[in-house]
Amino acid sequence: MPGPSNPQRIVVGISGASGALYAARAVQLLVAAGVETHLVVSPLGQRLLRDELGMEGLDLAALAGREPGTDAPASLILHHHKDVGATIASGSFRHDGMVVVPCSSNTLSAVATGQAQHLMHRAAHVTLKERRKLVLVHRETPLSRVDLKNLLAAEEAGALILPANPGFYMLPRSVEDLVDFVVGRVLDHLDVAHDLSIRWPGHMRLVREAQ
Ligand SMILES: Cc1cc2nc3c(=O)[nH]c(=O)nc-3n(C[C@H](O)[C@H](O)[C@H](O)COP(=O)(O)O)c2cc1C
Repeated sequence: MPGPSNPQRIVVGISGASGALYAARAVQLLVAAGVETHLVVSPLGQRLLRDELGMEGLDLAALAGREPGTDAPASLILHHHKDVGATIASGSFRHDGMVVVPCSSNTLSAVATGQAQHLMHRAAHVTLKERRKLVLVHRETPLSRVDLKNLLAAEEAGALILPANPGFYMLPRSVEDLVDFVVGRVLDHLDVAHDLSIRWPGHMRLVREAQ
């Protein structure tokens, strides 16, 4: 039976959509919150980490917000995308949810149609079949009819579609603020505690006064 893990356990997939900063910030905050974080990165996801963050190879310490090249936190566990025999490929492995961040249209399509080209897709299918939470931080614009149909199919299969689509009502001042807006909403849906300033106080004047 699915149930809460102790400590909390979350699976993170990084696919080849723009927005590597979202992935890095999510991993950093999950590790900081004491969550056992199981990571799988597609080959194009790895390329995006290199292109957008300048990361050579999969630097787990850097992803977790530590000095690049230093020891990775023990709670951050990497699974190779080709290892379809990894723990996260099995429904018997209990966890508290999975997020694909960022989620490419290719990975969205695999989730929507039940195809498993590699471990990330398999882990996503397993998350759905076990009725656990699957959050897809899809990033693409504009959206084709194919994307729109896949988004609906994935949602109907049980995924939560949380597009990389930050709000501006908190008056962001930096790229980091925009990233935190999206990542904070992801953590909310995974029931992971955080203290990011993403809560609407109810009146725009209050926001301005706080700055
Ligand atoms: C620099 C770069 C940026 C990309 N950005 C996106 C994107 O924002 N959204 C998307 O759906 N695909 C994007 N792609 C294309 C995907 O990486 C490509 O479809 C790939 O097959 C995705 O594979 P994956 O889903 O296994 O990671 C991008 C590719 C590159 C090289």
